[in-house]
Amino acid sequence: MLWVFKRTLHRDNSMKVTVLLIICFTLMSGSLGKPLFPEQEKDPKFWNAWAQKTLKNALTLQDLNKKQAKNLILFLGDGMGVPTVTAARILKGQLSGQSGEETVLEMDKFPFLSLAKTYNTNAQVPDSAGTATAYLCGVKANEGTVGVSAAAVRSQCNTTEGNEVTSILKWAKDAGKSVGIVTTTRVNHATPSAAYAHSVDRDWYSDNEMPLKLCRLVARILPDNCLKTFPILMLSWEEDEIHVSQKPEWIDKIQNKRGHYVWNKNQLLSLNPSNVEYLLGLFEPGDLTYDLERNTETDPSLTEMVDVAIKILRKNPNGFYLLVEGGRIDHGHHEGKAKQALFEAVEMDRAIGRADLLTSVHDTMTVVTADHSHVFNFGGYTLRGNTIFGLAPMVSDIDQKPFTSILYGNGPGYKIVNGARENVSTIDYQENNYQAQAAVPLSMETHGGEDVAVFAKGPMAHLLHGVNEQNYIPHVMAYAACIGQNRQHCMNKNSAGHLHATFASVVSLLTITRLIC
Ligand SMILES: *[C@@H]1O[C@H](CO)[C@@H](O)[C@H](O)[C@H]1NC(C)=O
Ligand SMILES: *[C@@H]1O[C@H](CO)[C@@H](O)[C@H](O)[C@H]1NC(C)=O
Ligand SMILES: [Zn+2]
Repeated sequence: MLWVFKRTLHRDNSMKVTVLLIICFTLMSGSLGKPLFPEQEKDPKFWNAWAQKTLKNALTLQDLNKKQAKNLILFLGDGMGVPTVTAARILKGQLSGQSGEETVLEMDKFPFLSLAKTYNTNAQVPDSAGTATAYLCGVKANEGTVGVSAAAVRSQCNTTEGNEVTSILKWAKDAGKSVGIVTTTRVNHATPSAAYAHSVDRDWYSDNEMPLKLCRLVARILPDNCLKTFPILMLSWEEDEIHVSQKPEWIDKIQNKRGHYVWNKNQLLSLNPSNVEYLLGLFEPGDLTYDLERNTETDPSLTEMVDVAIKILRKNPNGFYLLVEGGRIDHGHHEGKAKQALFEAVEMDRAIGRADLLTSVHDTMTVVTADHSHVFNFGGYTLRGNTIFGLAPMVSDIDQKPFTSILYGNGPGYKIVNGARENVSTIDYQENNYQAQAAVPLSMETHGGEDVAVFAKGPMAHLLHGVNEQNYIPHVMAYAACIGQNRQHCMNKNSAGHLHATFASVVSLLTITRLIC
């Protein structure tokens, strides 16, 4: 260990003190009797055996799954950049009593991985709307716009017409699949809205003397457009942003078709999925509460929502497309509240595990990704097993004060006390709403610009490899499921073996138009 740090730091004299501190700390923790890491890790056999097992698994992947995907699931962690995934992994492990670093997330188990370049056509660091257009509609777009190509200009309604692009949810629905959206955010939030705000509502065109923002428009077209389109919709709802009368109207409509409206956990969990064709779940008048602050008696978790959604959707013999958004990872980070963000990410990982139990890799392609990253990070040469919300094992060699491992590049956590950086040892930096220190003061921490990971499993998952543009994602998913513009190969391959058995159902996908409303 000492050797490693020397190698890393030898060029930097100012870090000598730090290295000494780390050594002291290491010796100290050793002398307290609690080993820093499991004894078995000292034995090369342990690492060799683990690596060999991984290798064996990797070799079996040469047998690629080229079947046709009946079901498609996209888990979208809003703002879940790679540093967030790693920190959430450590947190999840620590919550179950492990040191955390070696923990395997549900998403870590996915065999295929790629990086997605997240920039918007007009922005190096993207927003959630332009990116949602990319990973749902298959084209890159300008920031702030949903379901329209880059030829459309934000807030200019007259640039919308002719530039609409459709989402994979529509492609799936057109192919006779059931579609659903489960999210922890408001329905007019960027991610869900790119799924349905593809068609132009003439009514709001006539509104063009009012320079309405797209998200506002989205909220207004929702009752007419979205609710009729998606049999499964679980999210939250801002009462002042919809035509309230249309909500009862829709509820009324679906109730004649084995549809249900639920607004608390009990109602959701007491549904019998085999009797439910349509489901509207609205659990909060705004975003759902952070999972860390959820009333576990009355509010469903993301995992519970996903569980019910899949049980309803999978009844369709043509399969389904489900969009699941862990939407508040992003909110936690924007507020500089890393603990909230990471607990949200852990909950989304649990939901991924639940989906795994309810589906099969033989016929379900599952993709887990983020729309963009954040300027969130953790570092400071923390020791193995250090609580993810803890301090680096050293003080700053400049101001002699401790610092948390988690820090933000910018955001509301910037704090000066008596003209200097706050001494975090004088406050509770582990509480739920602690705002980690940031280098630059901003009331809202910003998105990050680096690539995000794309985890994939199931049919054709191997096509998600390498570094790709983000808008590639729905193209692969559509190809795997033989929907949208990618159907031809399913026809051509019918004599080649793999897809032979599914040929009949492909034909029926093309000919059956399932009436959803
Ligand atoms: C679209 O509207 C903007 C004002 O929002 C106006 O400046 C522009 O000329 C209009 N473009 C067209 C093609 O009508
Ligand atoms: C920071 O606070 C801790 C706890 O009160 C204290 O022991 C330490 O001396 C302080 N460090 C500095 C540099 O003020
Ligand atoms: Zn954001």
